[in-house]
Amino acid sequence: MTHRYSRIVGTGSVLPPRIVTNEQLVAELGSRGIDTSDQWIVERTGIRQRHLADEGVTSSRLAAEAGRRALAAAQLGPTDLDLIIVATSTPDFVFPSTACLVQKELGAPGGAAFDVQAVCTGFVYAFAVADSMIRGGLAHRALVVGAEVFSRILDWNDRGTCVLFGDGAGAVVLAGADQPGVLAAKLHADGRHESILRTAGNVCHGEITGHPYLTMDGQAVFKLAVSVLDSVARETLDAAGLSIEAVDWMIPHQANVRILNATARRLGIPMSKVIVTVDEHANTSAASIPLALDRAVRDGRIRAGQHVLMEGVGGGFTWGAALVRF
Ligand code: UT7
Repeated sequence: MTHRYSRIVGTGSVLPPRIVTNEQLVAELGSRGIDTSDQWIVERTGIRQRHLADEGVTSSRLAAEAGRRALAAAQLGPTDLDLIIVATSTPDFVFPSTACLVQKELGAPGGAAFDVQAVCTGFVYAFAVADSMIRGGLAHRALVVGAEVFSRILDWNDRGTCVLFGDGAGAVVLAGADQPGVLAAKLHADGRHESILRTAGNVCHGEITGHPYLTMDGQAVFKLAVSVLDSVARETLDAAGLSIEAVDWMIPHQANVRILNATARRLGIPMSKVIVTVDEHANTSAASIPLALDRAVRDGRIRAGQHVLMEGVGGGFTWGAALVRF
């Protein structure tokens, strides 16, 4: 049976247990001659700490654990799934996909499994693809995960980037439904800006080619992020026929609290309606939105019937939004 809609029936997330506070990071970097401060990091980003994965902990392992927790919340088992999509820019391997490794780890063989690469917009992209596949009859129950070990691609000698990111994973189970659910989603990219945020490396003939670390023009990303998060929110609400006042909770990608403040101000949404986790999690790229979503579902802020607007923005340059009724 093909369903007219899909809806979120469970959420889950996981953070590596190792917390590194700004003070700890500043001391560690300082011992290697890299000058930064808790004050700079807090004032410019709002970040106070990040969770970092121990060596050997992979995106697939974090994704599988977040997936297990989302399945438990949905009161479903792995064999109820017929689709797994993992959004990640830090996959375990070149191939197979991290989604196939998650499928193996969960013990859910047979359904489709693939990765989506849209960097920090990855979760919104994956979510919109899963919704479309369910409404198109290609799947009935999907696990959509954002999972990252960004610490592995950070240059710990570059103070302009290494203080900004963290590791973690978040997941939702999306199931076919007769009532919405997902009300609208909009996805965009502008590849002309590919060079402002990237990890421009690869493996070739047995060697690493290009640059194996993340590089970013922070100011260029900042300006683009604020403008597209405003426009895509309005576009998505228009598509659903809803006004900004109808938004109960906004969950933007958690890159920088100043971006969240500016976006909320431009949209006329009070910060009391914005879910903020960047202070605790830092920027976890594709994992940041589902981590924040799961936090707000579990602490009781997001309740049945409410409208939640999720917004991603990041490398590519990519951006997108999804509006959901819980
Ligand atoms: O997830 C994908 C999306 N990513 C983002 O959204 C990130 C967007 N960009 C940003 O969040 C901000 O641009 C940053 C937080 C990355 C940087 O903040 P900024 O206010 O744009 O600072 P800036 O790059 O203009 O740098 C200002 C100063 C520079 O020094 P000078 O040239 O003024 O002497 C930097 O060298 O801050 C210096 N700086 C630092 N100082 C202490 C850069 N990083 C650090 C640091 N500690 N960690």
